[in-house]
Amino acid sequence: MKKIINNSNINTNSIGVFDSGVGGLSVLREICKLLPHENLIYIADSQHAPYGDRSIQHVQSRSQIIANFLLNKNIKILVVACNTATAEAVDLLREQLSIPVIGLEPAIKPGAKISKTGVIGILATQRTIDSKRLYSLTIKHAPHTKVIAQACPGLVEKVEENHLERYDTRQLIKKYTTPLLEQNADTIVLGCTHYPFLSKSIHMIVGKEIQLIETGQPVARQLQRVLNQQELLNSSQHIGNIEFYNSSRLNQHKNTMRQLWLKNINIHFLSI
Ligand code: DGL
Repeated sequence: MKKIINNSNINTNSIGVFDSGVGGLSVLREICKLLPHENLIYIADSQHAPYGDRSIQHVQSRSQIIANFLLNKNIKILVVACNTATAEAVDLLREQLSIPVIGLEPAIKPGAKISKTGVIGILATQRTIDSKRLYSLTIKHAPHTKVIAQACPGLVEKVEENHLERYDTRQLIKKYTTPLLEQNADTIVLGCTHYPFLSKSIHMIVGKEIQLIETGQPVARQLQRVLNQQELLNSSQHIGNIEFYNSSRLNQHKNTMRQLWLKNINIHFLSI
């Protein structure tokens, strides 16, 4: 898969961003705010979501296929806007690609830092929770904090369907957050990029005083740092272009993307 970019000025090339579905838009919006002059390509793999309930092989193979598609579009850097794909595929992608790869991880370190009760909850997919990466992150960054990891099957689907505030969605949130509150957690780390779109509903259930932590902003800042270090920032004064792709043909998925992005964007079909 190694691809050498044969272009002396690659700074105007796009940043590739992908997720198992629409969740990565919560990262993309932070990238757009921080780096408005960059050109972006966003891939939602809704046809093959949720990654969190599937095998490691599935997550790795989809990540490789999408990375390859993006490399053929001459991206200058890849952002894995998915905790699950980062947990299971980022090392492989870094081995195979000749461009920088940015991953994201549940914000355990900041969560442990701000918690006053010394108890934090992490909401994530089953695959992220079972990953070695999450385990080492906890040992490294929160050795003196009680970290309660809660898998949330079904929540990604609610976001994919844009059922952000429905009764059944709130019931699921209640089921997953009650054990955290019962154990005195005062901070909840949103360890899946779909969940920031549920922040309003989560706050309604857990109360405003519980802090919710997401990773979109820190990832955007990390991306800016790497682009800067590698002299890859786009110096154009024009607002960048964004191309959107989805592997699902369903109008429902496209509509969710438009509603979450708050614009009537054109979405290409990703036939891989
Ligand atoms: N947005 C993905 C993440 O951050 C969701 C994974 C899934 O499709 O289950 O983990």
